[in-house]
Amino acid sequence: LTRERYPVRRLPFSVVSREDLEAFERVVPGRVITDPEVLEASNVDWLRTVRGSSAVLLRPRTSEEVAHILRYCHERNLAVNPQGGNTGMVGGSVPVFDEIILSTALMNQVISFHDLSGTLVCQAGCVLEELSRHVEERGFIMPLDLGAKGSCHIGGNVATNAGGLRFLRYGSLHGTVLGLEVVLADGTVLNCLSAPRKDNTGYDLKQLFIGSEGTLGVITAVSILCPPKPRAVNVAFLESPFYVLIETSGSRAGHDAEKLNDFLEQVLRSGLVTDGTVATDHMKVKALWALRERISEALSRDGYVYKYDLSLPTERLYDLVTDLRVRLGPQAKHVVGYGHLGDGNLHLNVTSEAFSPSVLDALEPYVYEWTAGQRGSVSAEHGLGFRKRGVISYSKPPEALRLMRQLKALLDPKGILNPYKTLPAQA
Ligand code: FAD
Ligand code: MLT
Ligand code: ZN
Repeated sequence: LTRERYPVRRLPFSVVSREDLEAFERVVPGRVITDPEVLEASNVDWLRTVRGSSAVLLRPRTSEEVAHILRYCHERNLAVNPQGGNTGMVGGSVPVFDEIILSTALMNQVISFHDLSGTLVCQAGCVLEELSRHVEERGFIMPLDLGAKGSCHIGGNVATNAGGLRFLRYGSLHGTVLGLEVVLADGTVLNCLSAPRKDNTGYDLKQLFIGSEGTLGVITAVSILCPPKPRAVNVAFLESPFYVLIETSGSRAGHDAEKLNDFLEQVLRSGLVTDGTVATDHMKVKALWALRERISEALSRDGYVYKYDLSLPTERLYDLVTDLRVRLGPQAKHVVGYGHLGDGNLHLNVTSEAFSPSVLDALEPYVYEWTAGQRGSVSAEHGLGFRKRGVISYSKPPEALRLMRQLKALLDPKGILNPYKTLPAQA
């Protein structure tokens, strides 16, 4: 495990006492976890580069329990780290110091599914893949999909505004999330869950929590619009010199195959594509997607990974990769560029045998300055969390940052929710 050292000091929150544990035990009996072995998995992030030292993990089952916990923590000035599937990429999902981990793992109930509109209402701790299965049995699909689907929770997806593999087709969660229930830092339950598709009654408050990374409230339930399950799915995997995976989905298999074949003939004739394969069979489709979905896992086995998640103009998407291969030379094991081409989202990953300050110095602030020079985003879909909070100013002006701080102060005046995350430390 690589523990990076960050210049961050613990803020003056209270320390969890025996009385606190007893109070939690009354709210969530049998679900106050203090066993260090169980806590280990929740203190370390998926990438294994950030580690907290929380001594308590709470597993509420209901929104009321979450409200009780937060009301108590607010009064006692105890810091809280909301946690879903712990698959986040920016160190936002684990404590920095001894924050209480508030897990949604047991909040995993589907509340309702409307099989005419495709509206799914569920608790925040439902695992994405399980939701996919639930709605597919009813002729729909989830509007988002990602490699972490087997572990990530829908609440975590909303909290990070996850992009993923269907973004190009179905758009962002800012469009597909219809309503949210959120518990605020002081324990207030904000029920904006049952919202019709069209609803212009005042400010759209739910949008504030989509992508807020657990810093403004704990999402306890989600209402989300699921598109109908496509009757025909085609996947093409084309080569040279890049690999491109394309999925088409529609309602008439023959018509869709014809369109895809026309496209393939055209790109083969033009020389743009030299080889490839297509699939309609479910198992082959899955196998092709696995090649894409498992890249991050493969990279994490290659050594220490420096991860960047950038939005760039599509025509310049790969320039930084070739540029960095020259800049880093043999210092880097691999400089890899993959991502979501249709969204203009590059995942730039550099690996080295072990963490090296000189590689980091060659990468930062160079990568961020390069991105800002293209008016891109230094966090396209993973958020800022703990690891990236210091770079927000490459993509947002001071006025925006000031307003974000004001919103944080309004919704969480004591700053107990996910401290040290998303917004940079104040001087
Ligand atoms: P966690 O990792 O537990 O938490 C993430 C953040 O959300 C933290 O700040 C946490 O405090 C907060 N949070 C979690 N639950 C709540 C809640 N109920 N209320 C308030 N705050 C909460 N991301 C993409 O955008 N696109 C991808 O394609 C993609 N692919 C991935 C593939 C792999 C293999 C892995 C490991 C990760 C991938 N990710 C991707 C990143 C990650 O899966 C997403 O960010 C995901 O949405 C996180 O969900 P989670 O439940 O694991 O949240
Ligand atoms: C992906 O697109 O595979 C994810 O965002 C994860 C990653 O960037 O490693
Ligand atoms: Zn991605």
